Amino acid sequence: VNNPKAVMVIFGATGDLANRKLFPSIYRLYRNKKISDNFAVIGVARRPLTNEDFRNNVKKSIEDFDDPHIDKDEFASHFHYNPFDIQDLTHYQGLEKRITELDEKHQTDGNRLFYFSMAPNFFGTLADNLKSQGLTQTEGWTRLVIEKPFGHDYESAKKLNDQIRSAFTEDQIYRIDHYLGKEMVQNIEVMRFANALFEPLWNNKYISNIQITSSEVLGVEERGRYYDGAGALKDMVQNHMLQMLALIAMEPPIKLTPEEIRSEKVKVLRALRVFEENEVDEYVVRGQYDKGIIDGEEVNSYREGTGVDEDSNTETYVAAKLMIDNFRWSGVPFYIRTGKRMKQKSTEIVVEFKDLPINLYYGNEEDKKPNLLVIHIQPYEGITLHMNAKKGDANATSTPVALTYDNSTDKMNTPEAYETLIYDCMRGDSTNFTHWNEVALSWKFVDVIANVWNNKKAEFPNYESGSNGPKAADELLLNDGYSWWDVSPKE
Ligand code: BG6
Repeated sequence: VNNPKAVMVIFGATGDLANRKLFPSIYRLYRNKKISDNFAVIGVARRPLTNEDFRNNVKKSIEDFDDPHIDKDEFASHFHYNPFDIQDLTHYQGLEKRITELDEKHQTDGNRLFYFSMAPNFFGTLADNLKSQGLTQTEGWTRLVIEKPFGHDYESAKKLNDQIRSAFTEDQIYRIDHYLGKEMVQNIEVMRFANALFEPLWNNKYISNIQITSSEVLGVEERGRYYDGAGALKDMVQNHMLQMLALIAMEPPIKLTPEEIRSEKVKVLRALRVFEENEVDEYVVRGQYDKGIIDGEEVNSYREGTGVDEDSNTETYVAAKLMIDNFRWSGVPFYIRTGKRMKQKSTEIVVEFKDLPINLYYGNEEDKKPNLLVIHIQPYEGITLHMNAKKGDANATSTPVALTYDNSTDKMNTPEAYETLIYDCMRGDSTNFTHWNEVALSWKFVDVIANVWNNKKAEFPNYESGSNGPKAADELLLNDGYSWWDVSPKE
């Protein structure tokens, strides 16, 4: 579908996500001519803003990537503000009227995209009310984009899902995991299934272990109140980390349709070994940052942050050894780790291949490296293949070399995650959104760990800000004879 048409209703339009990600993404779609005149955005929130205030916010949010050829005011004129109380049913009629007017004005064929980007405790009520007040019936399509967190455990996620499903059908629901919109995350599939080179080796015969890292330098900043009730396990592992795992481990789909791809991902999550409670300490490491030095500046510990309990037991770091019990992966550990206030911002996946039965070439230990395939997801985007080649001027000696593909040469035109996902939703392509079955299985895996941790206080803080995380995360791999690869490009 070229030039998809819709009235987009963003709930939570004064929030951080809307300003930081959604407005800029809509602007990029507009600038790149993926959407043109046939769209309108209604910003909905409690605050009593005027259209003008709202449009000023929108313009401010795009200052950094402002294109002089684009008329900013014309772009902002597609945005309208509608103060709203989710609990007040009379407000829904006003909203309906607004949508209908803008539909006519912008010729959007009756298509509606509802975007839930506010406090999750209102998601269910809002879905119910939209349905009961008749806003989900239209001549065009109706779709719902829903932000995380999708519940805080399996039970709450199920309850939320039931509530949403009574207002929207599964194929109308687009559960966002913004990692699935990242270029290099989408590249995992292409690299695996469009090259004859890797697929034959992509199994327990040739791969010794896989490491997935997503580290951040930032702390929890202003999000302490949300984060202290969540923690890294629910904030990052339940969604982003397990999604990357599913893409790395899944079987080749028979077709590139949302159903086929999701069904392969679901199979991985079904094969993911759910820990017994008494295994959690052995396979999962938790951490919380202490004060430390970042960019030469002293920074506070997590517990000193705003909105955080001074005795908080919340983890800001998780490392774990996961096993996928299927034919392809039996015996191959998948190590994952994610943390805040680490040494560097970097998300990457390292596939470590097994050694050859015999290696006749000389070289000291540093020269004898296994083959690694590294998928650099961010901030640097690319793929590196670490191989061994002849060492110059030395006979029968090998040395590691790296072949690199750089995906970030055309940064201006590389789409942002949210830009890709909003566009996909407008076109009705749900491939890069998570199905309820994936959400359910991820929560069941995470719940066991969360329960054990809730019942047992950790000795926090246990890693310094600006470090590589707790020591126990290194031991997790050392026990198996491996270590974390530090192969991200240095700035
Ligand atoms: C979000 C988490 O989903 O992902 C944040 O809630 C985290 O805590 C963010 O910082 C990381 O996203 P990215 O795209 O910067 O890696």
